[in-house]
Amino acid sequence: MSAYLRKEVIGNATLYLGDAVTVMAAIEPLKAAALIGDPPYCSGGFSEAAKRQAKGQGLRSDTLREIEWFGGDNMTTAGLQWLLRATAVMFKRHAASAGSTVTFFCDWRMVAMLAPAIESAGLRLQAMPVWDKQAPGLGTGFRATHECMLHFAIGVPEYHTARYGNIIRSPRASATTREHPTEKPLEVMRVLIEVQTPVDGLVLDPFMGGGSTGVAALGLGRRFVGIEHDPAHFDTACRRIEAAGRSSSLMLGGGAEAA
Ligand SMILES: C[S@@+](CC[C@H](N)C(=O)[O-])C[C@H]1O[C@@H](n2cnc3c(N)ncnc32)[C@H](O)[C@@H]1O
Repeated sequence: MSAYLRKEVIGNATLYLGDAVTVMAAIEPLKAAALIGDPPYCSGGFSEAAKRQAKGQGLRSDTLREIEWFGGDNMTTAGLQWLLRATAVMFKRHAASAGSTVTFFCDWRMVAMLAPAIESAGLRLQAMPVWDKQAPGLGTGFRATHECMLHFAIGVPEYHTARYGNIIRSPRASATTREHPTEKPLEVMRVLIEVQTPVDGLVLDPFMGGGSTGVAALGLGRRFVGIEHDPAHFDTACRRIEAAGRSSSLMLGGGAEAA
């Protein structure tokens, strides 16, 4: 039985429909400069009790389907810890070198639980970059205006520009035009990619969603491998990455693995 349901090669991008860890365990080593992932936050949106009551996990969750959300976001905290630890362990077989880096977006409520879990995969916590959304979200009190990232290296990290600080400023993706419920803005993804990968380097995003990392990567002349387990979001990513590839003069063909 194949480790993935579909594989699409679109210019310098290779996209897999399947589970992040299962696919990473099965495919040939990628020699990736960086893993840049935006996993489900499993944050405070659902309490631990409510998460357990949700009808099933992943793609079987009727509760999440009804509100057009995505599978995996109602995992318990321990579930997310296991998923990110396993992803980080698996990344070591795909890293181009000991200088390869790993960056996960994460809700501020989960920082203290996730950082040690990922560290236990043998990675070193290097920084906590922040996305400043420049306008507060809904609510009252200290309304959330930022999102956190946890940034790790396997050994001594290799960086490719010193242009940026650890606060990345960009408005949210427009609610009217975004194609995934938690779509990340391309401006943010570009900074993450420029810092962590060289031109023609390979970026791996195991929680690809609607493919923002891939769109940004191709636009910057990088190669891309993405994994997504939801067929609808996978289709969105294929469409967006194909369009990005068409408008990129660096479309060389042959797929990310072949380069
Ligand atoms: C926060 S979203 C990513 C959004 C993406 N950064 C974008 O800009 O469109 C997380 C994605 O991970 C996917 N996902 C969750 N668990 C997964 C797993 N175990 N393997 C692969 N994909 C998974 C979800 O379906 C969801 O689309």
